[in-house]
Amino acid sequence: MDETLPHRMTPQEVDAVCALARLVWQATYPALISQAQIDAMLADRYAAGRMRAQLDDPDHAWWVVKRNQATAGFVHALREGAYCKLDKLYVHPGYQRQGIGTLLLRAAASWARQQQARCLRLQVNRGNTQAIAAYLAFGFSIIESRVFDIGDGFVMDDHVMEFPL
Ligand SMILES: CC(C)(COP(=O)(O)OP(=O)(O)OC[C@H]1O[C@@H](n2cnc3c(N)ncnc32)[C@H](O)[C@@H]1OP(=O)(O)O)[C@@H](O)C(=O)NCCC(=O)NCCS
Repeated sequence: MDETLPHRMTPQEVDAVCALARLVWQATYPALISQAQIDAMLADRYAAGRMRAQLDDPDHAWWVVKRNQATAGFVHALREGAYCKLDKLYVHPGYQRQGIGTLLLRAAASWARQQQARCLRLQVNRGNTQAIAAYLAFGFSIIESRVFDIGDGFVMDDHVMEFPL
């Protein structure tokens, strides 16, 4: 395997991706949302059984980038009608700012084009300046900013961003 490029996530990599998600979320979100919300969203979004099922679902695509045999970053995109959603993009803090996020965004954009989607859309916390900078650098623009009620008393204060394909 070429370690420099993203590859589609394998079933054997699901646990490592979940572990990386926990690590990056704890490095990123305590300044932005409560620990209770972090724990609830991690449990919901990184259920290993659901992730494995998505590997066989043509409407979902996960990619992983490895560095020094370790999982350094991942992205998850999915089809939602006329557009594709960039649902998750996480790079290990020790490997950030080395171009891995851009490689993962390219993989997701290329897959979304193959799905005939008109754009790639995402939500990002309004206080997540680092991610917003990365998305703007890639060519996304902010199309909407609002508070989303996600239930259980939790909200997401997000920008919606789009990248035309
Ligand atoms: C957002 C994230 C995925 C970007 O991945 P990355 O591998 O660090 O990004 P890249 O190295 O490809 O950066 C591409 C460009 O984005 C911009 N950028 C990235 N990080 C930046 C930062 N901290 N400050 C300012 N600009 C930044 C720069 O223009 C950069 O190009 P340059 O390094 O040549 O100046 C990564 O920072 C991350 O995992 N953050 C924590 C998790 C997160 O917030 N995920 C997004 C959830 S919506």
